[in-house]
Amino acid sequence: MCGIVGYTGPQSAFTPIVEGLRRLEYRGYDSAGIALGTSNSLFVEKRAGKLANLEAALPANLPTVHSGIGHTRWATHGGPTDRNAHPHLDNEGKLAVIHNGIIENYAELKAVLQKRGHTFTSETDTESVAHLLSDLRKEHQGDLSAAMRAAVAQLRGSFTLLAIHADNPSTIVGVRRNSPLVAGIGKGENFLASDVAAFIEYTKRAVELGQDEVITITPETIEITDVHGAKVPVREYEITWDKEAAQKGGFAHFMLKEIFDQPKAIADTLIGRLSDNNQIQLDELHMTDAEIKRIKRISVIACGTAYHAGMVAKYAIEKWAKIPVDVEIASEYRYRDPIVDQDSLVVAISQSGETMDLLMAVRHAKAAGARVLAVCNTNSSTIPRESDAVLYTHAGPEIAVASTKAFVTQIVAVYLIGLKLAQVRGELSDAEVKNLYHEALKLPGQVEQILETVEPLRALTRTFKSNNTVLFLGRGIQYPIALEGALKLKELAYIHAEGFAGGELKHGPIALIEEGTAVIAILPPHDEHALDEKMLSNIQEVKARGARVIVIAAEGVEVIGAEHVIRIPIAAPLFQPVLATVPLQVFAYEIAVARGTDVDQPRNLAKSVTVE
Ligand code: AGP
Repeated sequence: MCGIVGYTGPQSAFTPIVEGLRRLEYRGYDSAGIALGTSNSLFVEKRAGKLANLEAALPANLPTVHSGIGHTRWATHGGPTDRNAHPHLDNEGKLAVIHNGIIENYAELKAVLQKRGHTFTSETDTESVAHLLSDLRKEHQGDLSAAMRAAVAQLRGSFTLLAIHADNPSTIVGVRRNSPLVAGIGKGENFLASDVAAFIEYTKRAVELGQDEVITITPETIEITDVHGAKVPVREYEITWDKEAAQKGGFAHFMLKEIFDQPKAIADTLIGRLSDNNQIQLDELHMTDAEIKRIKRISVIACGTAYHAGMVAKYAIEKWAKIPVDVEIASEYRYRDPIVDQDSLVVAISQSGETMDLLMAVRHAKAAGARVLAVCNTNSSTIPRESDAVLYTHAGPEIAVASTKAFVTQIVAVYLIGLKLAQVRGELSDAEVKNLYHEALKLPGQVEQILETVEPLRALTRTFKSNNTVLFLGRGIQYPIALEGALKLKELAYIHAEGFAGGELKHGPIALIEEGTAVIAILPPHDEHALDEKMLSNIQEVKARGARVIVIAAEGVEVIGAEHVIRIPIAAPLFQPVLATVPLQVFAYEIAVARGTDVDQPRNLAKSVTVE
């Protein structure tokens, strides 16, 4: 998520803004910029790269000003370049806007604004807001707050917006929808930010904002209205965190914060992907319908956790699109002379977009004539740049080495690919696609529901901290999640953990079971194969040999023989992996904390493995 800071007060605005952005930079970003309100004009500077690049670009004799806005951008629409960095300006250069989120209808707005004579200089969705606000401000006799209210009524998507105008630079206007914005009340000064970490050293008096509420700050005043202009009470609260905790949103570790970020990450990845006439919108594939119909096979290539997302992709794409899917470990792929040709679609899944094993596999596949589609969380990273197309997940920066929110959004992204391919190839009707998309839209709320009931699991988990072996069982579409649960425990708590297909247990691994062995079993959804009943038999097999069994099962499903059952909401069968993975993330996290490992930076691991 981008970093957003606004300041108005007696200080030289540069310091609270840039220092505020620095305290938000842990969230990851790839460009930065500021707009300072000098008398009757704006001083604007913005640069790709880190804050140091921005500071190096500033003149030595920076004007002393007392208000402004600043931004660190995590690129979504448009790569991390100087031109795409925020703030974005109107054509007169007197109104500046910074933004966090996704303006879904920016292209429609841009077309209308261009017809009105506005000229655009960037590839971003945000710039449309700058020009829209400029027009609306004129229509509202220079009232920037009224203009913001009118703009919100026209915007679709999720956003935090701040705006400043040169005619009245000590006033800053902000608004939020499904994206964070908080105000800080100082002495003769006021702050706006995407996170209290930005201003916590100046004040611990914060003000929360509701959806579509427009806030206007000056050094002495804070006013909040709803989108219609009706005053809303200023709801003040005391920040109880210290600076370090504030950077993690009050969570003890980035990993826990990112586990709790998952509902929003999933929602942001799904947003705007079904048109009004029930067509899956994946223009990024850059494939014509004829090309999609020509695909004869799909190879999903990835490493680690991303590989497990690829395994889920196999079940979903084969079920919906009826295309054969191979799932390949990237570091093995090119050494076995894979059969690849121009009718092959290679899907390369990577959070970082820099994993060398995968980059080498992508180059091999492209050289063999395959079309490569990247699924990636990091805009303009190497793998998307070397692929034919890229579908970005919108999980935001993932700081913890152990992947959580990126993983679930990778799964959601491959669901979208499967639905798109199935729809174009006529394997699913528009009505079926619409129904499945709306089932997917329930996932954020269902993950939220799991997270709200996670405390008992956290307590139970700590009773397993002394186990040196933990086995994970899964069947069907939950088999990849058993592997992912084992990987999480390995990389976080340094415990030997292994994932198995439940039916494979009796072919050897069951010899591992003895009194007290911990087994986590994920019950697959009930289907025509009654796989869930077979898994219940597997549970009995290990229980009979002394295992301690935790079962993850959908609400309402009867489970016999488990020490503890973790319930997940009932979801469409192919969507259940997204839900089952959440308790396993918490399980691994809690045991790691109990064992005192370095949760966010586990030993021997790197967030991006850029060597083969
Ligand atoms: C995830 O928990 C691991 N840290 C690791 O397996 C990771 O998924 C793998 O290295 C691939 O990284 P990527 O998604 O950035 O390509």
